[in-house]
Amino acid sequence: MTDKKEALKKVNAFWIEHCTCSLRKEALQAVPGDGSADAEILFIGEAPGKKEDLLGVPFIGSAGKFLSEMLASIKLKREDIFITNVVKYRPPENRDPSPEEKEACRQWLVDQVEIIDPVLIVTLGRHAMKNFILDKKISDVHGKTFYVTSPDLGTRTFYCLYHPAAALYNGGLREALKKDFKKIPSLLKKIQKKK
Ligand code: URA
Repeated sequence: MTDKKEALKKVNAFWIEHCTCSLRKEALQAVPGDGSADAEILFIGEAPGKKEDLLGVPFIGSAGKFLSEMLASIKLKREDIFITNVVKYRPPENRDPSPEEKEACRQWLVDQVEIIDPVLIVTLGRHAMKNFILDKKISDVHGKTFYVTSPDLGTRTFYCLYHPAAALYNGGLREALKKDFKKIPSLLKKIQKKK
């Protein structure tokens, strides 16, 4: 097992036991994340849905299938990236997670980011974007890169995308998402060159 894989396993085990998020009362289980601890790209969605809650794996429903298709379009597989959510437990009826719930899961996410130390963080949808980039509209920031410094994460590179679930039911968003997605490989190369 690589050092990062081992560290991630430990962090997830710690938070499964200690996370104070009130969503855990109704959720079946935690959905910590999935993929490679050595990934260069970390995708962050909003919250687990019904299927994810049942199986403990993020993005395995229809939005996840669409995400896998888009990954394939840039020659990546799920195993090449890491994917997680802002909150690690399913909100009842898939409602939006509250600020308190997001805050309760924040350190878990911060620990994951620190271990994986991705070159690029891709936010999926409005909630994930607003967690890091305040006061912006997803319609203005999708397909754009932000260098954000925060006290707990340091300076990180974020790329904002529409949420695949929203794009499934809206042709305009779907085309925008596919187009934005295709820019990921060149963006990654550009960032790596700068380093
Ligand atoms: N939508 C999300 O934001 N996360 C999941 O894990 C599944 C659907």
